[in-house]
Amino acid sequence: MKLTSEARFSTVCIHAGQEPDPSTGAIVTPIYQTSTYVQDELGVHKGYEYARTQNPTRFALEQNIAAIEGGKAGFAFASGMAAIAAIGTMLKSGDHVIVSKNTYGGTFRFFDKVLSRAAITFSYVDTANLDEVEQAITPATRILFVETPTNPIMQLTDLAAVAALAHRRGLRLVVDNTFASPYVQRPIEFGADLVMHSTTKYLNGHSDSVGGVVVAVRDDDIEWLRFVQNAAGGILGPFDSWLILRGTKTLAIRMERHNSNGLAVAQLLEAHPKVTHVYYPGLTSHPQHALAKQQMRGFGGMLAFELGSLEAARRLLNAVRLCALAESLGGVETLISHPATMTHAAVPVERRTALGITDGLVRLSVGVEDLDDLKADLTQALAQV
Ligand SMILES: Cc1ncc(COP(=O)(O)O)c(C=O)c1O
Repeated sequence: MKLTSEARFSTVCIHAGQEPDPSTGAIVTPIYQTSTYVQDELGVHKGYEYARTQNPTRFALEQNIAAIEGGKAGFAFASGMAAIAAIGTMLKSGDHVIVSKNTYGGTFRFFDKVLSRAAITFSYVDTANLDEVEQAITPATRILFVETPTNPIMQLTDLAAVAALAHRRGLRLVVDNTFASPYVQRPIEFGADLVMHSTTKYLNGHSDSVGGVVVAVRDDDIEWLRFVQNAAGGILGPFDSWLILRGTKTLAIRMERHNSNGLAVAQLLEAHPKVTHVYYPGLTSHPQHALAKQQMRGFGGMLAFELGSLEAARRLLNAVRLCALAESLGGVETLISHPATMTHAAVPVERRTALGITDGLVRLSVGVEDLDDLKADLTQALAQV
């Protein structure tokens, strides 16, 4: 079962990083639930000494996701935030980072409340606007941290343009690719240096694991991340690694359905009189629809829509039956949420309002259920708004 260099995306998802188990031939990589490994004699072992440093299940996942993203190496962590924290260790006191202005609330909180204590500074800019990015660069800037599409307003950044700018100015481009998934968008192809995911979302895809991964291309980054993963120790455990490996096998077919259901639900909402606005890059009304077609394969399963008031949002959220009111995203089941009081509650209200995260905004992670059932549920719930 050798992958050729011509293997296409869904083949890579299923096979990369995974060989039948050498001891039994098990076709699925086993869960190596062990903390240590017996050594043959002093100084002689099979390449495995201690499980924080080496675990075959985690290694299989790391190779699998690195191949899926088109990178050289991957490093799996206990959560998406732990993956971002590992990237944060590349910075030192006095460094400056430019960040997409409506980045995930937890990322903002980590930068604002944790890294800032080490005198690392951040500028939050509209990374869709290259002039704004360029103006924010200072001699201390090291990293451009981009989320595209953003959560929950679905704003895009032109990856090729921003990568060219970052490299011209000697910066690393880091892309949080959680919202799109590597089926929809592969930032390394556009020049990103590091790609991170909350694997909790589309990569695992079944809402039953929390994890994170960083994929790197530069040898110096790979060396540092390997060192930090072991030194700081925020590793992903073997069972979660196995769950995510199971998830990535079906990434391509799940994403095809997320894409088609996402577009159809966005169109349904856009045509509904009680919905004042829909944020979805697959709609021709999205101001960056042309860019979406250029850098995305399909438009994903995430969208947000405006109902005008907290009361209207509350009525909808209480009326849905199939859509589950919950944080998180990217699972096979459709989740509905209220960013202002849930995912973005940590973002100060003035900042939230400036970003368009109003009290009437509702976010949907459109799952892979039968489309007619999703349409029926949203239609009956909107009738109660
Ligand atoms: C875009 C994005 N990045 C990072 C994270 C953090 O990931 P985790 O919850 O796995 O720590 C999330 C979580 O919702 C997210 O949506």
